Amino acid sequence: MEKLIVHGGCRLRGSVKIGGSKNASLPILAASLLTPDTVKIRHVPDVSDTNYMLQILNSLGASVERSSGTVRIDSMDGISASASYDQVRKMRASICLLGPLMARLHRCTLPLPGGCVIGDRPVDLHIRAMQALGAQVRNSGGNLYLEAPNGLVGTTVDMRGENGPTVLGTDNLMMAAVLAKGVTVIESAAREPEVVDLANFLNKMGAKIEGAGTRRITIIGVDQLTGCDHTVIPDRIEAGTFMVAAAMMGDGVTLRCICQEHLESVSALLTECGHHLEFNNRGDVVTITPAHSPRSGKIVTAPYPGFPTDMQAQMTALFALTPGISVVKETIFPQRFMHCSELKRMGANIKVDNGAAVITGVERLSGAPVMASDLRASAALVLAALAAEGVTEIHRLYHIDRGYERIDEKLQDLGAAIKRAADSESGD
Ligand code: EPZ
Repeated sequence: MEKLIVHGGCRLRGSVKIGGSKNASLPILAASLLTPDTVKIRHVPDVSDTNYMLQILNSLGASVERSSGTVRIDSMDGISASASYDQVRKMRASICLLGPLMARLHRCTLPLPGGCVIGDRPVDLHIRAMQALGAQVRNSGGNLYLEAPNGLVGTTVDMRGENGPTVLGTDNLMMAAVLAKGVTVIESAAREPEVVDLANFLNKMGAKIEGAGTRRITIIGVDQLTGCDHTVIPDRIEAGTFMVAAAMMGDGVTLRCICQEHLESVSALLTECGHHLEFNNRGDVVTITPAHSPRSGKIVTAPYPGFPTDMQAQMTALFALTPGISVVKETIFPQRFMHCSELKRMGANIKVDNGAAVITGVERLSGAPVMASDLRASAALVLAALAAEGVTEIHRLYHIDRGYERIDEKLQDLGAAIKRAADSESGD
């Protein structure tokens, strides 16, 4: 077990390179199962979630090679249709193996990924999608058993759930449809940039997908797909996290390898709160200067292009030190407030009720031993620790290593007094 030791009160300055998107990489890695040809995927972040996915692909029979950010996958014939519980339980996103396995093998056994601290993570929309294409689905003993003896047949599927569109559900349906007979139309599709990146990857493999990035995606099934070489988009949530760090305690921090278009809602909010963002002409570099008099703000999380749920915890850390009253309304994962109790231990004034956090800015936070609980909550604790007075120890560091590559080293390069250390604290 490891922990982070942070000496707060630092100022950040300099330039940091943002890595490839974890949430684009995971479905794209799974999609490599759709062809027996070699697939090369570049800019894959070295985080535990992508490494878990590579382990699962390997256990299914694919050969996997990683050299720094580039992954080479050969999933030749003989791919297994069953993933083990021990692997799947480590990463909820393994549900995105459903589509590729059904497209390639017309059957699969996948342990239900279960929930996580940000909320119950149902898969009813994923099941709806597979059944619509002709799969029979049985749920027993914690496993999903699917089979489509006559193969998959395209149709129109409305993927909207009561909490809006589903990102990985849209991905699964797209990946199942690319080798189905006939045409599939996805209504109420997720519009996230990571969905668009997956569609671009599939089209490079020879798929026929149109409309990714809109609410309606059309897929014309083809007989087979070939290998390809693809570079994953930048991670907009890592970028947003460093933008918030720069707004909280930067003296002119520059982020490289970003995509301005993917950050519009986060940039708009930071600007509304008085912080200054300067993008270059290509939109792949941004320099952030903190507001002289930062203003409180209001967030209502929403599916893309709305404000991302994956950024609300980080913004809560910023609001904790912003004068006035800020509000964060979480509409996608209403329980996603685990970070608030730990921030309050550092002196934040936050009231959580009925899916919303009301944050009253305080003069200062104080360092304290805190517990990471999930990926983005951990990021919020790192930001608060950097801004707090005194020393903070953040336990259960594995939560942050799931989705941030070398976050301690990147922050050290910006001048933060932060280091990783062995943790004697017992595990979960
Ligand atoms: C993706 O998860 C991301 N993960 C999440 O990021 C992100 O928070 C989420 O999308 C929302 O943007 C990856 O891409 C690997 P959903 P996903 O299906 O696809 C409900 C991070 O921190 N729902 O879009 O699993 C669900 O409960 C992670 O990087 C159903 O009701 O999320 C939620 O309320 C955390 N039935 C809403 O839809 C279903 O079958 C959106 O979930 C599926 C989802």
